Amino acid sequence: MHPAYIKRAETFAAEIGIQCPILLGPMAGACPVSLSVAVANGGGMGACGALLMPPQAIKQWAADFRAQTEGPFQLNLWIPDSAPDRNPDHETELRTFLKGWGPEVSVNAADDTPPDFHAQCEALLDIAPPVISSIMGVFDAPFVARMKNKGIKWFANVSTVAEAVAVESAGADVIVAKGFEAGGHSGAFKPEDAMRYGVGSLALIPAIANTVSLPIVAAGGIADGRTAAAALMLGASAVQIGTGYLRATESTIAGAWSEAISTARPEDTIVTQAFSGRAGRSIATGYALAMERGDSPQPAPYPIQRGLTQAMRAAAAKDNKIDGIQAWAGQSAGMAQAISATQITRDIWQAVQDI
Ligand SMILES: Cc1cc2nc3c(=O)[nH]c(=O)nc-3n(C[C@H](O)[C@H](O)[C@H](O)COP(=O)(O)O)c2cc1C
Repeated sequence: MHPAYIKRAETFAAEIGIQCPILLGPMAGACPVSLSVAVANGGGMGACGALLMPPQAIKQWAADFRAQTEGPFQLNLWIPDSAPDRNPDHETELRTFLKGWGPEVSVNAADDTPPDFHAQCEALLDIAPPVISSIMGVFDAPFVARMKNKGIKWFANVSTVAEAVAVESAGADVIVAKGFEAGGHSGAFKPEDAMRYGVGSLALIPAIANTVSLPIVAAGGIADGRTAAAALMLGASAVQIGTGYLRATESTIAGAWSEAISTARPEDTIVTQAFSGRAGRSIATGYALAMERGDSPQPAPYPIQRGLTQAMRAAAAKDNKIDGIQAWAGQSAGMAQAISATQITRDIWQAVQDI
């Protein structure tokens, strides 16, 4: 590997205050402080996916992280879509279907909405982390100005070149280029695009590098030295890893989910709207596959579907039954190591340097 790629990555890492150019992916519902601290101890950057957390919980997360390490971290929010139309008959059909996969779904289940976005944004500014990241859209101009005033860098997730151009003109500092291989929700700005474009990292990273001038963090399918080195050669200055950390000692996901990741081949994950209504890549579980059958109901839009599946997902996680777990996983899942996230971080960076 040409030393220029290593130099670009080391320079970027120094600029954002980390020893090696590896970021933990923010993972809503799967980002305990312990995992971030372990990544920071390995020289990488910690992350909190704050989507589901009320302001006080986000503040507590940041305080707990800061009490254990001086390393930097990113706080991440989804940019909300407009509220979807409700269809009571369709919701009834889904509730009936879901009864076959978990507990009875209450009539109010679909009313459940994520915490207030604007209150979360205010909490983020109060916390003033080194990095705030967005996915599924752009922050509005006044919020971007307030972030910049506080010296906070904005890392913006994109999954197409057009989205990269949009975040550059909205004032992003860094582009997180999220390839189709990635675990978790698609970052597509428009929900309807999420199932249409499947741009893989091999095409996405160089296409963005050829078009915009911001530094690129590559995400999706990266879980070892080879995949990280490839991303750096394609134009990235750093890599972001989600699934590759989910089996780490400091992760807290259900055992059945971790086990499914350990044996997953790339084709054992699918992109599905079955869990939340927004497309995301998960293990092809019994429930996710059943929702794909022609005679199954279509998923409702986000966040209605998310509310409807909540009881099934919670029960399955508690009972450690993979079929109903929202088992997000990327195509490189099989590379995830069940060792400390500190070691994972160090091993990947060492392997990159050895190439
Ligand atoms: C369980 C899980 C939850 C995730 N939640 C979020 C999230 O809330 N916000 C976000 O920007 N990305 C989220 N992601 C994406 C990761 O931050 C990261 O970009 C992605 O996992 C990289 O691809 P990989 O899984 O192939 O490593 C999530 C990924 C997983 C696996």
